[in-house]
Amino acid sequence: MGKISASLMCSNPYTLQKDIQTLEKAKIDYLHLDIMDGHFVPNLGFSIDFIHSLRKTTSTPFDFHLMVENPLKIIPRLSLQKGDIISIHFEASYYLEDIIALLKTYECELFIALNPQTPICILDFIHPHINGINFLTINPGFSGQKLLPQTIEKFSYLKNYLCKNNLKHILIEVDGNMSFQNAKKFKEMGADIFVAGTSSIFPNKKLSKKEIQNFQTLLKG
Ligand code: DX5
Ligand code: ZN
Repeated sequence: MGKISASLMCSNPYTLQKDIQTLEKAKIDYLHLDIMDGHFVPNLGFSIDFIHSLRKTTSTPFDFHLMVENPLKIIPRLSLQKGDIISIHFEASYYLEDIIALLKTYECELFIALNPQTPICILDFIHPHINGINFLTINPGFSGQKLLPQTIEKFSYLKNYLCKNNLKHILIEVDGNMSFQNAKKFKEMGADIFVAGTSSIFPNKKLSKKEIQNFQTLLKG
């Protein structure tokens, strides 16, 4: 049964509050929050102040996607809670051991985010410390991009890697151009959590109740 993580960077800022209420009513599993510092990716994401005020308005768990150069500085400011997910990019983690040690002091789920060109073998020394993987099907930083075709084969390689190493407990989130067609394919290949953005529930950056229901039917069915 797939879980849905609604990507708020795909929402229209002028309707964000109403969108969050709609998502909560629809019992969406997570709110996907892309935190971007303009260095790791050439874009800016939600601020710490926004995160704190958002926390006061909803009980939906947060799914943080950190696209920042120095996660160690940001993590303590996020007021992480039990039930949250936090994805840290392998490519931005010079001090991965320190980041893992810091995150172990919180009760959230620790995911490692992998860019399309990052090989699966980097998991060899990391998998004992993680709960999941954020599998990027696009180069991170912007919504509305097209899935990179080579990530389909990479995904099946990842699934084989997890099976071969008896790591089926590690969850996989897929992030980037999760259209109905792509989500169906990745659900069949064994993905667990789907980032819902402009190619599913936010067509033209306008949240659609109908598309939320359709996406839930596709993934929960
Ligand atoms: C992009 C973000 C994604 C983005 C997905 O860097 O990490 O979460 O919101 O948007 P779509 O679904 O439109 O590709
Ligand atoms: Zn993301």
